[in-house]
Formats: sequence, structure tokens, C-alpha cells
Amino acid sequence: MGIELQNQIIFGDCLTVLKSCSSNSIDLIVTSPPYADNRKNTYGGVPTDKYVQWFLERSEELFRVLKPTGTFILNIKEKIENGERSTYVLELILEMKKQGWLWTEEFIWHKKNSFPGKWPNRFRDSWERCLQFNKNKNFAMYQDAVKVPIGSWANSRLKNLSETDRIRDEAKNNSGFGKKVANWVGKELVYPTNVLHLSTECSNKNHSAAFPEELPKWFIKLFTQEGDVVLDPFVGSGTTTTVAKGLNRNYIGIDIVYEYCMLAKQQLWEKKNMNNEELTSFINDNITEFHKNRIEALSKLKLESVLKRKNPYLFKAKNIQTSGELVKTLVDAFLSSQEETVFGEFLEKLAIYVCNATMGGYKSGIEGIDLEISKDNTRYIIAIKSGPNWGNSSQIKKMKDNFKTAQRVLRTQNASLNVVSINGCCYGIENKPDKGDYFKYCGQHFWTFITDNENFYIDIIQPLGYRAKERNDAFYEEYAKVVNNFTRDFSNEYCLDDGSIDWEKIVKFNSQMKTLTN
Ligand SMILES: C[S@@+](CC[C@H](N)C(=O)[O-])C[C@H]1O[C@@H](n2cnc3c(N)ncnc32)[C@H](O)[C@@H]1O
Repeated sequence: MGIELQNQIIFGDCLTVLKSCSSNSIDLIVTSPPYADNRKNTYGGVPTDKYVQWFLERSEELFRVLKPTGTFILNIKEKIENGERSTYVLELILEMKKQGWLWTEEFIWHKKNSFPGKWPNRFRDSWERCLQFNKNKNFAMYQDAVKVPIGSWANSRLKNLSETDRIRDEAKNNSGFGKKVANWVGKELVYPTNVLHLSTECSNKNHSAAFPEELPKWFIKLFTQEGDVVLDPFVGSGTTTTVAKGLNRNYIGIDIVYEYCMLAKQQLWEKKNMNNEELTSFINDNITEFHKNRIEALSKLKLESVLKRKNPYLFKAKNIQTSGELVKTLVDAFLSSQEETVFGEFLEKLAIYVCNATMGGYKSGIEGIDLEISKDNTRYIIAIKSGPNWGNSSQIKKMKDNFKTAQRVLRTQNASLNVVSINGCCYGIENKPDKGDYFKYCGQHFWTFITDNENFYIDIIQPLGYRAKERNDAFYEEYAKVVNNFTRDFSNEYCLDDGSIDWEKIVKFNSQMKTLTN
């Protein structure tokens, strides 16, 4: 028995992932695998001469996991090589039969909206195969679920029935087939043919080879009932799993590209508002971490390191005269920049968490990009910063370079992908968000963008203050110890016998040249 995979999108090679799937557990497999040698740049093509072997290893696992009454629909089309149709699909059918599969039927997906084109020796290819395989002749099939309107031909054809129309007209070749036209009088819905007239997917689904929702929908309705399990081992953008979920079927999706798994997960996401309890509990857990880090950083602080990092001339110019005042100013300046960083990390984590919970956004695996969201047929790549004035020109240049590289990476996977770069800042206001290469969203604009909730930037205030006083008291206890200890050490080390501050000694410690070596 395998582990429970139902209602999940799993990242990995389906060959490996399927090993942990229970035998005889799947009602329907609908999939469109990578075609031979195609789309090398996106998810690694399999060479035509290796394709059959490559597929057979996987179809063996598919055979094992499919229920005896289940069906496997394989959407595939051979390509043209050296002016000829390649034969690997035909070879695959023969080999799969040897593996035990019955090749029960072949459906044609007629792509209704194919764009016209001109080739010297052929016409526009506007159909694909949907091969049906089964383990047994008796498989589950719910034909009534896909009935179609009888069509206008019936009006004239069924109006005046001939004698032959009223009786069963046996086929002339003694095949046992026959038809009785009169059976269709008064019927509004009839059974469809094995040709599916569907448009290709027009909207950019962030995947270069997505099939239209109607395709898996038709097969899911025909071969499964509510509560059954539908598997797509090459799930891509998640068309099959989204449709299966919408039809109240259980689903399993697998893809070898992490990005596609995230996309498929996001398609399954139901947009929802963040529940206040969830938000409070996330903030409580993580703000505790923030306070812990603050205290930890304080206890590790060394007098020398604060003295080294801050500008001694400034303190002299401010006429600071007592050890206590100087030490406190130094420690405060250090803590404020350090806190900004630690709190920034906390806010970034919060942003990713809430975006995931509300819109299915996910932490990006690309360098310099923190968050990715797919919405409105666009991939948004987001670099999160604390506030609007976060960087100098070279840091901003670095961010722009990161955006460019990320766009290149994503477009290598899918050339037609629309990618938009965003610098999201957790607080502040930006009146001119369009920066040319990217957009800068700050404060309310940013939180609204990632949660679809205009009030979210206000909603986080209250949980942030939870037990803040108690936590701050603990911090101040530590802080007082550090300031007192430093003051004592500072007085011993940097005050003259008459009690005044030895500025020369401080400046030398902070700025004196070391002996230079060539
Ligand atoms: C033709 S696309 C499927 C598109 C999908 N039907 C949709 O609507 O988006 C094939 C998918 O198979 C994935 N793939 C390729 N090799 C794989 C493997 N060994 N295991 C799992 N997925 C694989 C690719 O990453 C790609 O997303």
C-alpha cells in the first residue's frame, strides 16, 4: 500500500512519485505528456527514438495504479520529422498493448479555432489524438453524462419517417449493427460521436502546452462519478486537477517542474479572506521570534563592535559628555538599524504567508525574488522590502538585474508567459508606481495587491501589539543590563582620570590606520 496522495499536487518525476501510489486506486487517468523531442527548452524533451521506452516505464506504473474498471486517456500527437509523420505514437500503442493495456478507443480532439496557415506540402494540423486504454473490457462509463442536443437536422429528418425508418434496419454486411431512426423521435439529447470539437486554450494559462478545460471535463464526466479519483501524471498548469475538483472528484497531479506544481496548486486555490484567528496565531508565533532575536542580538553585543561601527565625530559634535549618555546613544543607534532588518524579515515572511493563504501566491525559488503570484493570466514576481526608501542606486540596480534574470528564467520555461516585476514595500506611499522596468507598490497598495483585501494593512495592526508590553519589558530588562555593563567598561577604558571622555582614544580606536603592508 502506498501513502495517501489524494487531492495533492506533487512535485517530481511521475515515475518516482507513482511508486508511492496504491495499486488499483485510480478511476481515471487523463493526461497530455511531453511530446517527443518537443519543448526541449521548457521541460526537457525526450528524444523520439527513446520516447516509447521512456513512456513504457511510466505506463507500467499507470497500469498498476489504475482500477480494473478504470480508464486511461492519453492526449498525444506525433510530430513531423524530415517531412514525414513520426510513428512513435503508433509504436507506443503496440508496445502498450504488449504491456497489458487494451486500446479501446481513439477520440479526436478537433481544434475548432485553429489559426490558418500555409505549408508547401500539408495543411494546418487541427486535431490531436485522445487514446483510450483500459485494463478490462468492462470499464466504468457514464454515457448519459455527456449527451448533447440532437441538433437541427432532426427537425426535417424525423418529420416524415419512411417505412424503413420505423423498423430496425440491419447493416447490409451482416455485422450485427443496425439502426432504427424512429427511436430518436421526440429525443432532445443524444449520445455524442468520438470527435470532440473544442477550441484550444486562448487565454494564456502560464503554461505553453495547456489543454482546454473542456477536454478533461468531457472525459471526467464520461468515465467517473463524484468522489472518484482522477490522476494527471503530467499535470502542467493543473487543468485536469482544477476541473476534477470542480466536478467534486478527488484528484492527484504530478509535474517535474516546480513552477508548474505551484501554478497547478494556485489554480486549485479558492480565493478567500484571511481568517482573523489564523492571522493572529501566525503573527503571535513569528513576532515571538522577532522579540527573541532582538534580545539575543543584545546579549551578543560587544562594546568594541558598537564603538567601531558608529561615527565618533558625530557624538563629539553633539556635545555628549557622560559615559552613560554616549553608550546609550551608541547602543540605540545600533539596535534601531538591526531591528529594522529583523522586523523586515518578519514582514516579508508575513507577506508570503498571507498571500499564500488568500491568493495561493508562493515563495519563489528564483534568486532575489521573494514571492510569485499568478493572477489575471500573468506571473507577478515580487521583491519584498521593508519601506519605500530601502536602497541606494546600486542596490536598486541589483534588484532590477534580478528581475531581468528571473524574467529570462521564466520565459525559458514558457516563451509566451507574461511576467510583471514588482517591488513591494510593506509600508509607505508611492505615488508613481510605474518605474519603467518594474512597479513599486507600497503600504496599502502592496498589501491589497497580495491579499485582494483593501483593509489588510489595517487588519495587521492589532495582532502585532499582542503581548507587546510584556515582551518589551523583557527586552528592556536585558537592555538595561547591557547599557549598564557597557557604561562601566566604557568609563574604565575611555574616560580620563578627571572623569571626562577621552575622545582622542575613541577616535584612534575607531579610525587609526593600521600598519599598511604592500
Ligand atoms: C503537455 S504538458 C501538460 C499540460 C497540461 N495538460 C495543462 O493543461 O497545463 C506536459 C507536462 O509534463 C511535465 N513533465 C515532463 N516530464 C515529466 C515527468 N517525468 N514527470 C512528471 N511531469 C513531467 C512537464 O513539466 C509539463 O508541464
